[in-house]
Amino acid sequence: MSTTNAHNTPLASLDEWEDDLLKRYPDPDVIATTKSTEDYRNYDDPQRDTVKKFYRLNHTFQTHDFVMKKRGDFLKFNRKEMTVWDAFDFLNQLVDDSDPDTDLDQFQHLLQTSEAIRRDGHPDWMVLTGLMHDMGKVLCLFGEPQWAVVGDTFPVGCAYSDKIVYPEFFKENPDYDNPRYSTKLGVYDAGCGLRNVNMSWGHDEYIYQIMKEHLPEEGLYMLRYHSFYAWHREGAYEYLTDDHDKKMLRWVKLFNPYDLYSKNPEPPDWEKLRPYYENLVNEYLPKTLKF
Ligand SMILES: [Fe+2]
Ligand SMILES: [Fe+2]
Repeated sequence: MSTTNAHNTPLASLDEWEDDLLKRYPDPDVIATTKSTEDYRNYDDPQRDTVKKFYRLNHTFQTHDFVMKKRGDFLKFNRKEMTVWDAFDFLNQLVDDSDPDTDLDQFQHLLQTSEAIRRDGHPDWMVLTGLMHDMGKVLCLFGEPQWAVVGDTFPVGCAYSDKIVYPEFFKENPDYDNPRYSTKLGVYDAGCGLRNVNMSWGHDEYIYQIMKEHLPEEGLYMLRYHSFYAWHREGAYEYLTDDHDKKMLRWVKLFNPYDLYSKNPEPPDWEKLRPYYENLVNEYLPKTLKF
């Protein structure tokens, strides 16, 4: 990530954020069979400091204003037009230089997610959702800093929930003391529905916007809110949601373990899987997608 400077890139790779998610939300099956819960909850490792620095930047700079500017810019989709397959190649330029032997590339994570969904017999649109869910990380390749691409997402324009990881860092966000944005509801109405709420800017919202004409509503919720842990894991922000969100929440929850717990050192056999995925992509997606 040569376009960003050291100050903006505390994480050696974007995977450090996801590794940290696994510590916060360990796989119940794996705990049962291998490590004790305490092993997982051991936060005293050096990687945690970089994750902490990362969240400090994220919570300080994700203001309501910042989100509006990013939406205005990126939702023009005037950067690149690619086939899905070219987009995967492009995404894979995001290489992880911290540990090239053990970390799989972005495409492998997507494929492991989609394959785990397929193995459990879920509908094909959900398999495609798994395959596409992190495509928004191409934001990094458009020069966006890590804190504006990954990390837990949260509503902007209203008070921050203390259920968001490292809530203390929000004190450094200018919106924290802004009377317009610091009340419980801020700029929103109670029960207005998440579709009317602006989330912190990152890879979830971006891929949702790219895919919104092409997947069923349930899949779109999975894309748009998969990093909104304060909502789907912690139950925060209920007062902004409506009945539709409450119905869709179970789909977001259904998706989350496939994202978190499908990582495996063994890469899937792409040559074997390819025909299935080519059909799937042709069935749901246009020839090219605009980024
Ligand atoms: Fe993600
Ligand atoms: Fe993911």
